[in-house]
Amino acid sequence: MFRYAAFALLLAFGCVMHLSRGTEVTVKDKDDKLCLYANLLVNFTVSYVTSGNKSELAEFELPAEVVSNGSQCDAASSTLKLNFGAGHSWSMNFSVSGNTYQADSITFAYNLSDATVFPKSASTDTLSVTVRPHITDVGMDTCYSCKSKETIQSDSVNQTLWNVLIQAFVSNGTHSENLTTCAADLPATPTASPTTVAPVTNTTATTLSPTTSPTPALPTPATGKFSVKPDNNGTACLLANFALRLRVKQGEKYQEMNLDPNVTRASGSCGVNSSELVLASNDMTVVLTFTNDTKKFRLQSVNVTAKLSSGVIFSEANSSLSLWEAAVGSSYMCNKEQNYTITSRLNIFTFNLQVQPFAVKKGLFSTAEDCQAESESFLVPVAVGVALLVLILIVLLAYFIGRKRNMASGYESF
Ligand SMILES: *[C@@H]1O[C@H](CO)[C@@H](O)[C@H](O)[C@H]1NC(C)=O
Ligand SMILES: *[C@@H]1O[C@H](CO)[C@@H](O)[C@H](O)[C@H]1NC(C)=O
Ligand SMILES: *[C@@H]1O[C@H](CO)[C@@H](O)[C@H](O)[C@H]1NC(C)=O
Ligand SMILES: *[C@@H]1O[C@H](CO)[C@@H](O)[C@H](O)[C@H]1NC(C)=O
Ligand SMILES: *[C@@H]1O[C@H](CO)[C@@H](O)[C@H](O)[C@H]1NC(C)=O
Ligand SMILES: *[C@@H]1O[C@H](CO)[C@@H](O)[C@H](O)[C@H]1NC(C)=O
Ligand SMILES: *[C@@H]1O[C@H](CO)[C@@H](O)[C@H](O)[C@H]1NC(C)=O
Ligand SMILES: *[C@@H]1O[C@H](CO)[C@@H](O)[C@H](O)[C@H]1NC(C)=O
Ligand SMILES: *[C@@H]1O[C@H](CO)[C@@H](O)[C@H](O)[C@H]1NC(C)=O
Ligand SMILES: *[C@@H]1O[C@H](CO)[C@@H](O)[C@H](O)[C@H]1NC(C)=O
Ligand SMILES: *[C@@H]1O[C@H](CO)[C@@H](O)[C@H](O)[C@H]1NC(C)=O
Ligand SMILES: *[C@@H]1O[C@H](CO)[C@@H](O)[C@H](O)[C@H]1NC(C)=O
Repeated sequence: MFRYAAFALLLAFGCVMHLSRGTEVTVKDKDDKLCLYANLLVNFTVSYVTSGNKSELAEFELPAEVVSNGSQCDAASSTLKLNFGAGHSWSMNFSVSGNTYQADSITFAYNLSDATVFPKSASTDTLSVTVRPHITDVGMDTCYSCKSKETIQSDSVNQTLWNVLIQAFVSNGTHSENLTTCAADLPATPTASPTTVAPVTNTTATTLSPTTSPTPALPTPATGKFSVKPDNNGTACLLANFALRLRVKQGEKYQEMNLDPNVTRASGSCGVNSSELVLASNDMTVVLTFTNDTKKFRLQSVNVTAKLSSGVIFSEANSSLSLWEAAVGSSYMCNKEQNYTITSRLNIFTFNLQVQPFAVKKGLFSTAEDCQAESESFLVPVAVGVALLVLILIVLLAYFIGRKRNMASGYESF
């Protein structure tokens, strides 16, 4: 009997549910109440240079024993800081946005003087890398759970996170029963369960039923103004204004969804050769990857993950696109509605589009190359041709008039 009670208790507390051999940390606020809970596994691979000027790889794990000094909780932001070994640390920053929270960054600092981890390192500095994890839209008062591996790469450090269970902003002193499960953990089959696994209601049964009723026409999506700022700081390095609609094919049926800019969070990164815009809301994540091939940029990849009304998680991507092309240093613009076929199951529609993924100056769009101009560009040679024809006619006319006059004057002179 007692064992069943204990089992039920374990089930009730989502955060404690799958106890793993991970690094477990609890952080308490100034009133000594639990405010942040984490249990996770992290592997690091760090490339460093030895005194023989050779590049070496150090591979190690986040130890189970860590010190959480430097961790802190506030109402709107909190930090989990794990110190370990000889001056290494791993920290994660969280912030609240509306009724969700997210991890904004991971900073990993490593002490190259530590000869047990970095033998024969040429440098003795403590270096640090900051990366952005894909931990977004975690419901307030829920635990983020992700058993799947997520590898986050940066220049000289790769970090693999798995069996992650984190609750930031614990409100009532205990972990939440409710989980927000990462997309990677959800089965991609039509039997997928909704993300928050709390109350088992029968709503899916009712939303699945309308097989014959016509889908009501969606209003035109609202135009969002999205930007990416490096390190959440300074001026934007990527700008994108547009309204977006998805059309998703499921079996024989289609579902259309509008991106609601009011509840969408933009993030991403800017690079020399490639920039990324991530738009995430509760029910969809759209990742747009732009590439710079010296003179021109283009949209190379579109990756859409969406939760359909049936509760099914839909995910489609195409990374060999060549859309929205314009010169680096300018922006691409297209006001009228555009229909792009991304895959056989996914079309996207854009309205009022203007994007600039590279070379943004002072946070403002540079001159735009309009898609209208593209389709009208064939008019330029036509116009030049017509102008030339007119010119030739004028010259010919002038010649004949001149000849006539000459001939006339010739007759007179004789
Ligand atoms: C993490 O590192 C340990 C030891 O270095 C290794 O045994 C394990 O396979 C690694 N796990 C992953 C997921 O890379
Ligand atoms: C180390 O090797 C790199 C090329 O691998 C070379 O460019 C650099 O000059 C070398 N540095 C020293 C101090 O030997
Ligand atoms: C880095 O490691 C060295 C050697 O273990 C140690 O003496 C030093 O205090 C460490 N640095 C920091 C900032 O902890
Ligand atoms: C990180 O992972 C990528 C892809 O697997 C690999 O090419 C790169 O060498 C890795 N870097 C480090 C520092 O392990
Ligand atoms: C879990 O979610 C349900 C429904 O959203 C809510 O009623 C319940 O209070 C939540 N439990 C906790 C501990 O937050
Ligand atoms: C859910 O709906 C199905 C079919 O509509 C019904 O058979 C079942 O009893 C319902 N379950 C609950 C818990 O209401
Ligand atoms: C923000 O940018 C300023 C100047 O570019 C810099 O001094 C500051 O350290 C940055 N802050 C963060 C948190 O990156
Ligand atoms: C978005 O917010 C604005 C102002 O806050 C509001 O006027 C607009 O109706 C909202 N749009 C949607 C789609 O909720
Ligand atoms: C675009 O790529 C070229 C060549 O790789 C590079 O020289 C240029 O700086 C890049 N432009 C931007 C804005 O990053
Ligand atoms: C960008 O691409 C150019 C040419 O392909 C390459 O030489 C350069 O190293 C790349 N830069 C980065 C930062 O990847
Ligand atoms: C698309 O994004 C999802 C979620 O971030 C990821 O699991 C998937 O691998 C991506 N697909 C491609 C082809 O990159
Ligand atoms: C968008 O294009 C697809 C494929 O070309 C077509 O089947 C669909 O009807 C188009 N939708 C609209 C609204 O034009």
